[in-house]
Amino acid sequence: MSKHFKTLTDMNTTDLLPQTNPLLSLDEWEDDLLVRYPDPETIAQNKTKEEFRDYENTVRDTVREFYKLNHTYQTYDFVMEKRNDYLKFDKKQMPVWDAFQFLNQLVDDSDPDTDLDQFQHLLQTSEAIRRDGHPDWMVAVGLLHDLGKVLCLFGEPQWAVVGDTFPVGCAYSDKVVYPEFFSLNPDYNNEAYNTKYGVYEPNCGLRNVTMSWGHDEYIYHIAKERIPEEGLYMLRYHSFYAWHREGAYDHLLDDHDRAMLKWVKLFNPYDLYSKNPTPPNWNELKPYYENLVSKYLPAEIKF
Ligand SMILES: [Fe+2]
Ligand SMILES: [Fe+2]
Repeated sequence: MSKHFKTLTDMNTTDLLPQTNPLLSLDEWEDDLLVRYPDPETIAQNKTKEEFRDYENTVRDTVREFYKLNHTYQTYDFVMEKRNDYLKFDKKQMPVWDAFQFLNQLVDDSDPDTDLDQFQHLLQTSEAIRRDGHPDWMVAVGLLHDLGKVLCLFGEPQWAVVGDTFPVGCAYSDKVVYPEFFSLNPDYNNEAYNTKYGVYEPNCGLRNVTMSWGHDEYIYHIAKERIPEEGLYMLRYHSFYAWHREGAYDHLLDDHDRAMLKWVKLFNPYDLYSKNPTPPNWNELKPYYENLVSKYLPAEIKF
């Protein structure tokens, strides 16, 4: 447990900590995204929109508890501390395929028979992108996009790895899921951080905005020398639903962000809707991916 976490614990918020990791598995957050943003094709096939939209009634308490922790503890100072620590990349170094095996140590014990491992989700995402004929760098983005979840294996709690992301250091949008929990965040009452622009200039561009800490930002920094700009936006903002699904935070965007938004939106359905109970045939796919990985990734990945 980090020093910072203890400091917050001392602030009479211990009632928030009966469980540091309330989600039964990381996938539970993604299952919840499907309830919030259902696949339009699935709606057409077998469910009414109302059934999907009945979000408040179906949301699991674990997800609610998870967002309560996320919104409470993702302060501006917390994010700066994590950036200073993880962006040194001094934790581990390993060959790229070992990195995917490392990620797979994140075992989901809630439903071991039906849930596919992390690598299968990455492969299903990248294969769905490839099937639709998109450029190979986007296939590489599909394969990589959740590799930052290794943060959990370095001891980070779920709320510092997954969940919708949002800017820190300025007022929160009510378009972020569970906005009511932001009142528990110490920054909510800090005048430096709670105005519309906070520490930012109007329309300064997302590159100048600090996002809540998690797997998106981490993989962006790992990949940033190797993947084209459009793909970097997909990696860095794929969990920024308040922007790419809800259109919030326009006052912080510049024209470059607005031009890149369509790429983030293009990626999102592959992430959300490519899940399939049948795992891809890795032996058949291996030669293609070995070639792809050697084109876009270094031989060794530094975490
Ligand atoms: Fe993700
Ligand atoms: Fe994903």
